[in-house]
Amino acid sequence: MPHEVKGVVATGKGAPVAIQTVVVPDPGPGEALVSVQACGVCHTDLHYREGGIGDNFPYLLGHEAAGLVEAVGPDVTGLEPGDFVILNWRAVCGQCRACLRGRPWYCFATHNAAQKMTLTDGTPLAPALGIGAFADKTLVAAGQCTKVSPAIKPEVAGLLGCGVMAGLGAVLNTASVTRGDSVAVIGCGGVGDAAILGASLAGARKIIAVDIDDRKLNWARQFGATDTVNSASADPVEQIRALTDGNGADVVIEAVGRPETYTQAFYARDLAGTVVLVGVPNPQMRLDLPLLDVFGRGGTLKSSWYGDCLPARDFPMLVDLHLQGRLPLDKFVSETIALDSVEEAFAKMQRGEVLRSVVLL
Ligand SMILES: NC(=O)c1ccc[n+]([C@@H]2O[C@H](COP(=O)([O-])OP(=O)(O)OC[C@H]3O[C@@H](n4cnc5c(N)ncnc54)[C@H](O)[C@@H]3O)[C@@H](O)[C@H]2O)c1
Ligand SMILES: [Zn+2]
Repeated sequence: MPHEVKGVVATGKGAPVAIQTVVVPDPGPGEALVSVQACGVCHTDLHYREGGIGDNFPYLLGHEAAGLVEAVGPDVTGLEPGDFVILNWRAVCGQCRACLRGRPWYCFATHNAAQKMTLTDGTPLAPALGIGAFADKTLVAAGQCTKVSPAIKPEVAGLLGCGVMAGLGAVLNTASVTRGDSVAVIGCGGVGDAAILGASLAGARKIIAVDIDDRKLNWARQFGATDTVNSASADPVEQIRALTDGNGADVVIEAVGRPETYTQAFYARDLAGTVVLVGVPNPQMRLDLPLLDVFGRGGTLKSSWYGDCLPARDFPMLVDLHLQGRLPLDKFVSETIALDSVEEAFAKMQRGEVLRSVVLL
């Protein structure tokens, strides 16, 4: 029997999101029905509702979620009703070209379970990042459910499902930051602060937080930033160089997703340093850099999708570190809200008032 639940739907470019009734089918082979307990409001959800990711409206938003498995499809093994899981948007398939080459964090598999959810008139919903979890229940591929210790609070656990993992992983997995490195992070929202926390965990010696909002810089210090730069009033490239003996940082994380901040990251790194682009640009954005500088400065220019994470490897490990008091993930939760407050949470995010608003269901 399909389930009718409330969900947060973006109906058209720029239109405010609305609660609508969503029809969630029972799980078929390879699928799991999850009763969502918490789902964070990520900037990527706002990108969807602004039309920055595609034009497949209506979208069922929400993708940073944790919950309890309610039912599994007939052939599903290793997952059963009652399991506490974090939903992931990288269910590694083990069979695609990337997996077979031993690089499963680039797994190309797409999972269509969540696309079976519809409005009551049968209109298909496009689920954000193949998840669609601003809803009481969601239908996902069983591999999108990563079991973790139920001792962690759902509103904290869910954040590992996207933004916090993206930031931690950009530093720990993509840039392989290690003891003694200098790291600058441009854009200190939930993703950037997670990068700062990751740099601190990895033993970086200097961690420079850059943002245009002093409130964000104050929060960044709580996650381990050793220095802060307000780039609305000072040139971040000059400041980062000054803070690193004139050299630039070993690693610069761009967590905004704009050409000007990428350019700052490019020039604020040390010669032969590393830039990691985590922020998501929109399709109109262009980058203009002297090719000679790309050549002459050497080093590594990378992008990080989902922190190059492997959910089955990384989520349980990070949950354990949190439960041991070594990873204060709870600091990312600025507020918990109801399902009907997502639009308001977008506005608070745009005004810089929150790191993460998390919907509790
Ligand atoms: N690569 C991935 O896998 C992945 C995953 C999740 C989110 N993201 C992307 O990461 C980005 C950040 O997400 P978030 O949830 O932290 O967003 P957020 O809105 O909470 O944070 C963005 C931060 O950037 C700051 N900022 C804006 N313009 C700036 C500028 N010119 N210079 C310096 N700082 C500036 C803002 O003040 C804010 O603190 C978004 O583009 C999001 O889509 C990427
Ligand atoms: Zn996200």
